[in-house]
Amino acid sequence: MTARQADPRHPAGADPAVPHNGPLVTEDDIAAVVEALRSGWLASGPRTAALEAAFAERFSPRYACAVSSGTAGLTLALRGAGLGDTGATVAVPTYGCSALLDAVLAAGCTPRVVDITERTLNLDPERLAGTGPLDAVIAVHTHGHPADLDALRPLAALLVEDCCQSLGGRDEQGRLLGTVGDAAVFSFYATKTIAAGEGGMLLQADRDAFDHIRVHQDPGAREIYIPRFNHRLSDPAAALALSQFRRLDRVTAHRTALAARYTAALPPHVAPPPGLTPGQVPYRYCLRAADRAQQRRWIDHLRAAGVSADPLIPARHLLHRQLGLPPARYPVAERVVDRTVSVPLFAALTQDQAHRVAAALTGLPH
Ligand SMILES: Cc1ncc(COP(=O)(O)O)c(C=O)c1O
Repeated sequence: MTARQADPRHPAGADPAVPHNGPLVTEDDIAAVVEALRSGWLASGPRTAALEAAFAERFSPRYACAVSSGTAGLTLALRGAGLGDTGATVAVPTYGCSALLDAVLAAGCTPRVVDITERTLNLDPERLAGTGPLDAVIAVHTHGHPADLDALRPLAALLVEDCCQSLGGRDEQGRLLGTVGDAAVFSFYATKTIAAGEGGMLLQADRDAFDHIRVHQDPGAREIYIPRFNHRLSDPAAALALSQFRRLDRVTAHRTALAARYTAALPPHVAPPPGLTPGQVPYRYCLRAADRAQQRRWIDHLRAAGVSADPLIPARHLLHRQLGLPPARYPVAERVVDRTVSVPLFAALTQDQAHRVAAALTGLPH
């Protein structure tokens, strides 16, 4: 299994010396999965329960429900709060995974796509002013940058933290991301901090909402009948996720050290990624070029040095464009997307690879 199998930007045979991402699968991880397979328990079971308990303990006081994906977790967060099939309005940032739209629509709600802030790439609370009543906000901590939860809190009855890119991080006040909103969602997709292939975790602060989530997550819960979907996580996947969760602190330290090393290597004319704050765990390391031409020069330079660098996402993937909304209403996202250069930063990156990336960064052209 490699993350690159799931990443169409890196087709087989086009491997750079330093890929953009790759999973860290240790002997402990392999032993944990083998043990799960030998146990004969393949469906959701004791290892899934142990993973939920580990999250509930770390993010206390929160109830934890393991799910089949981050998308499923977001959908269930809305359903758990009673918003399912109500058409409720849910704000999402335009710079984000299309899973945000999928989850809102799958829950029978209505997305309101909002522009982002230049510094953090997170939903800009000021852009919500005067846009009408709102039922929920999905606050993505993009690339690990904490969303402005205190500004968002009063704007909607339900605040969902999307922690798919921020596992283990804290905001500027030292609060653990995932413990501030009413609900929080994590993804265990192959390129995430916990890379179990697929899977996720949903945290809930409220017991009643949590019970509601369980009913929707598990078709085996048959006390009452409601139409629902199977959102369970299997035990071998949970075993892999739990093994990785146990070394989370080491992994986050490695990511933080890599970001610091890259920043130290930058030449004077290149600013470090904006928005990096103490306590946050860098999920990506994204430089901002002055314009599209410089973005191209930087990507070409890094690739020539054997370092996989990407423009992150094409403008057509911005969520407002996916919905056919006018680009002029999203000036910040439109501007930023053509200037971003993402540099490899992941848990499995070796010291040799980090050295190669840092050396390439030092030589970035004007
Ligand atoms: C910010 C964000 N939200 C949601 C998701 C969806 O997670 P999943 O792929 O596990 O459904 C992802 C990642 O894929 C993500 O990066």
